[in-house]
Amino acid sequence: MIGLGYVGLCTAATLASRGFRVVGIDNDETKIRSVRGAKAPFHEPGLNNLLGKTIKKKILYVTDDVSMVSDTQLTQIAVGTPSLEDGSIDLTYVKKATQELGDAIRAKQTYHVAVVKSTVVPGTTNTIVRPILEQSSGKPIGEKIGLCSNPEFLREGTAVNDSLHPDVVVIGANDAKSAGTLKNLLLGFHGKNRPPMIVTRPETAELVKYASNAFLAARVSCVNTIANIAQAIPDVDVTEVAKAIGHIPRIGALFLEAGPGYGGSCFHKDLQALISFSKERGYDPTMLSAIEETNEYQSDRVAALSEKLVGSLMGKRVAVLGLAFKNGTDDVREAASIRVIDRLRKKGASVVAYDPAAMPNAKKLLVNEVEFAEDERSAIKGADCCVVMTEWDEFKRLRPKDFLREMKTPNIIDARRIFEPSKYEELNYVRMGLGSSK
Ligand code: UDX
Repeated sequence: MIGLGYVGLCTAATLASRGFRVVGIDNDETKIRSVRGAKAPFHEPGLNNLLGKTIKKKILYVTDDVSMVSDTQLTQIAVGTPSLEDGSIDLTYVKKATQELGDAIRAKQTYHVAVVKSTVVPGTTNTIVRPILEQSSGKPIGEKIGLCSNPEFLREGTAVNDSLHPDVVVIGANDAKSAGTLKNLLLGFHGKNRPPMIVTRPETAELVKYASNAFLAARVSCVNTIANIAQAIPDVDVTEVAKAIGHIPRIGALFLEAGPGYGGSCFHKDLQALISFSKERGYDPTMLSAIEETNEYQSDRVAALSEKLVGSLMGKRVAVLGLAFKNGTDDVREAASIRVIDRLRKKGASVVAYDPAAMPNAKKLLVNEVEFAEDERSAIKGADCCVVMTEWDEFKRLRPKDFLREMKTPNIIDARRIFEPSKYEELNYVRMGLGSSK
């Protein structure tokens, strides 16, 4: 496994937990040291447990030495594919990993399969990875080496379970030999409880990943649009609307939580890459741009709602509860909280923030921009307004009396809709997606 980020490390650890001998490769020394000590370099429930079981027994071995791939039968490339300035995909790490992989298997006599797990735009496996691999290994794809695309759909916070029990497996291959090798490995990994397996062309597999993220992001922006409309109708709550439409099988009940907008390392990056990919081919996918614009707007809306409750935010103290882009993770990449904090500060507010898991990452991103509190109660102490940005259980345990006792004025924006509105009638409470009759 080349690249020990979320996808690489979770896939490596779950493979090892089911008895596959895995070599995990990364060029980040700190990351390697951490994993060798059976500690994931990021917060992911259940992962340290798997590392503890597999690292000690050396079923999972981590190193910065790429040449070790020559001792394996199959290598997965799971390095990052960040955005370039214009939103298009940056394939630098994929190219580098492919080159190093090819160099490492140049002298190898037995068959070796390379698998592209990184999210890459359609055509990358065949037009970018393939020529680099063939040139660096000195072998054409076919008898001696194989090449597949195998996108990953795991979510942060539930990555271990998602890796063990994926909804679907997609294998993109040019030839039966490489597809068969990867499929056999995955059949062995999943045993009797195997998920649906789709074997297709690499370009299709690559587009499946973008299609999945585009559809998921679309659902979030669509439910947020309905939430904003619901908020203009007294006593209508988007939660009830979502619950009802969730019963319609054509819609489905999952991914209908309205809120401050999506974040995380994938949706924004992948939508931008897909928009840019599509525009380069002469088609402007305006719907994808609208999904992104709707998402951006949610942050403006949170700030505007705060202003509506408090009046001018100039010099006001606003507590932001939650910095992670969702609960169960310490990841603040593209988090709605970061956008909202920016909007609040532009309106002149001073921000005090707290998150049960994401403080170290947030401190790197928000240097000198916010005051960090010790816990949720000290965050709201003396505040003029409180904005709930992440649905952590710790925050759900707060009661109306806590806000009344601690805050200067109990103005609350429940952007994740975690509190029961009927209990907050005495306070200045706004639930995103709930129309107020006041
Ligand atoms: C996502 C995809 O789900 C996953 O398949 C892909 O591999 C990587 O990107 P992840 O970023 O870990 O996974 O989180 P996800 O649970 O999908 O949530 C993404 C964002 O959407 C979060 O900010 C979340 O709060 C938000 N969201 C999700 C909503 O606002 N409402 C919902 O109903 C669901």
